[in-house]
Formats: sequence, C-alpha cells, structure tokens
Amino acid sequence: MKMYDLIVKKKRGGALTEEEIDWMIRAYTDGDVPDYQMSAMMMAICFVGMTDEETKDLTLAMAHSGDMLDLSAINGIKVDKHSTGGVGDKTSLVLAPLVASLGVPVAKMSGRGLGHTGGTIDKLESFTGFSTSLTPEQFIRNVNTIHIAIAGQTANLAPADKKLYALRDVTGTVDQMSLIASSIMSKKLASGADAIVLDVKTGDGAFMKKEADAIHLAEEMVSIGKLAGKDVSAVISDMDQPLGCAVGNALEVREAIDTLRNQGPADLRELVLVLGSHMVVKAGAADDLSLARTMLEESLSNGRAFEVFKEFVRAQGGDPNEAEHPELLPAARFQETVPAPGDGYVADIATEEIGKICLLLGGGRETKESRIDLSVGLVLCKKKGDAVRKGEPLAVIHANDEELLGQAAERLASAYTLTEMKPETIPLIKEVIS
Ligand code: URA
Repeated sequence: MKMYDLIVKKKRGGALTEEEIDWMIRAYTDGDVPDYQMSAMMMAICFVGMTDEETKDLTLAMAHSGDMLDLSAINGIKVDKHSTGGVGDKTSLVLAPLVASLGVPVAKMSGRGLGHTGGTIDKLESFTGFSTSLTPEQFIRNVNTIHIAIAGQTANLAPADKKLYALRDVTGTVDQMSLIASSIMSKKLASGADAIVLDVKTGDGAFMKKEADAIHLAEEMVSIGKLAGKDVSAVISDMDQPLGCAVGNALEVREAIDTLRNQGPADLRELVLVLGSHMVVKAGAADDLSLARTMLEESLSNGRAFEVFKEFVRAQGGDPNEAEHPELLPAARFQETVPAPGDGYVADIATEEIGKICLLLGGGRETKESRIDLSVGLVLCKKKGDAVRKGEPLAVIHANDEELLGQAAERLASAYTLTEMKPETIPLIKEVIS
C-alpha cells in the first residue's frame, strides 16, 4: 500500500477501507509514514470528513496500536467515565468512590492535565505519598477488594493517538469531530471497560463552545462505542461557568471531600448523581436511574462514600488523615478576596479566563514538562444568578507569588459581569444521548 494513494483517495472524497486504515496507522506508528504525509491526510479528512465506519476503524486501529488493558480478572461489569474537560472539573474525585461504594467496580485510567489545572492524577497527588503508578496486579487487586483503583495512563496506551494528536496540534487539524471522537474513544477502548459514560461539556470553559458541536461530538462517540460493542451514553453538561466553586488542584480536592461528606456545591453534586446513576445502571447494580440515584444519595448521606474515598487514598499510599483534615493538604501562602465593584446579579463568568488565571498562578501546565503548584487557584464565592452587594467577595485567590496575585485579582474582577436584572437560569444537564 502507498500512503500517497490513500491521501489522493481521501482528497477525492473516497472512504478508506478497514485494511487501509489499519495499514496507515501501523505504518505511521512505526515511523514508516512520515509526518508530512500524515498531515496531508489529516487535512484531507478535515475537508472531506469520514463515514461512521471509517471513524470506528480509525478508533480501533489507534486503540490496538499499543497495550489493550485486560480487565477480565476484575469481577463484574466495569464502567468507565470520561470528561471532555472543563474549569473546576473535579467530578471523578467524587464520582469514582461514590459509585465504588455501591460495589460497582471502578477501574480507571486517568491522564495528567495540560492546560488550566492538572488532571485527576495531579489532583490526587495532593495527598502525601499518593501513587498512581500501580502494577497491573495491584490495580486489579484493589478493584477486586475495595472496588476502586485510579492509575496513570501507561506510556503505551494508544501510542498512535499520542503521535497523531501531537501532529494535529501543530497542523491546524484538531477541530474535526470524527478525529476528536476517535482520539478520545481509542484511549477509552484501550482502557478495557465494558461500558462508558461520557461527560461532554459545552460552553465558554469547554473544548466545545457551542451546544450543537457538543451534541455532534457526543453522537459520534456513542456511535463509535456501539460499533465497537460497548455500552456508551453521553451526558451533555454546562461549562458556561466553573463547576462548583474551587479551581486549582488541592482546592478542588477539598471541595470533592466536602461533596463526599454530603456537603459541597449543588451543581457538582447534581452532575455526580446524574453521571453516577448512569454508571450504576450500566453496571447492573440498579434497574433504573431513579433507584440508582436514591442509592447514591444514601451513600453520601450515610458516610459510606467518604469511607471508600479514605480506603482508596490509603490503598494507593496516601494519608487518609489528610482527607479527614483537609487543612493538612497543600495550601498557598497568600489569600486575597476580590470584592464586587457594585450591586447586582452575576450575569456571566468568563470561564476560560478563570482557567487561565489558575494557570497564571501556577496551577496548570503550559507544556508537558511544566511543574504544577498544587496549592494555588481560586474559590468563587458567587456564581451565575447570585445577587451581590458592592464590596461583597466575588472570589478568593490563593497564590504563592504576590505579583501574580495582583495580576490574578485584576483579571478576576474583569471576568465577572454584573447586571441589574436577575439572569435566566441555565440548566446544568442539557441532554443525554444513549
Ligand atoms: N482530547 C483528545 O484526547 N483528543 C482530541 O482530539 C481532542 C481532545
């Protein structure tokens, strides 16, 4: 086969066969197809698109380009969850132990974040000694005993996607729906779960700014999952303001702990209950969503979910005392309150900008090599629709550098828009696609 012929076929609107896609991905991963030819192919796909069948074949070829995790030694139906990412998204920290507290096996591979905050793995490292480098045996043993393990993605998980994503990033070919869907799903399929619940976020703080695009992406991912024989659902959720109040690694861990203790912000709790209900039903632990929700609510109110969280922290080498006493988690040296400039209602919060402020403070990674400061970030005191009086705190900034603190405070004040009229409430859950 020749890459040149495949590029021309795609450019002329043709659909690539499974054999052609398999060959192309293998040859590219092995270094036999150069970046310039793959770039031309990616650009042709951006203009011409791919059929559902091609998208599924590309996903499977990328999933099979490295290790395919075998979770068959774990008892029960394994359900994974994936979020397309957003500002203040600490959902997995609450969801995973909560679902596990009902005996549902949660065997999760997570990534480190590139962007405004760390990923789940980074956040969990707020606990002294916590390790996400588990051997396959430890990973399986933990899930079989305490129903939960979260490990960092192995270097050899979908290596074709890793190489291709880096190429797309520098050739203006990231924003093609089928390419995004196959990239995300290749990693999920390689992670070995039987069923997957996707949290596809939309709004200013999300990858997909427009709801229609988020729905399109969700439909593509659900369709890939079905064609690959997996039970997949997608929840479209709002990211037009940060999720919860805390943005920044250790601050988000504290908020997750509050939520596991049956407190915490209402939007985070609601999202966790919705995603969790789908996971519990897919795992066969409840017959319908309403029963699943009741079971999850009970686990939050009777303390079981928080107990499982502490067991999980201990099982992965962390200090559960820090979960009991979150004031022991990393804390920044300076805290500054940003006051409201006048009376009114919060009409808008520039969510992407909030993420960028956290990055400015050192809470995220600009490059893969950047070191994250786990202690910094911000905590919103007011969210959309809240009434504010002049001088009341809008948010509190946590910083380790006084100069950055000043810059962050200025930008944070501008990120809020206040109006005289109370704005309309926007639903947190927009749609569920199954
Ligand atoms: N996230 C991914 O993993 N892949 C994409 O292509 C875009 C976002």
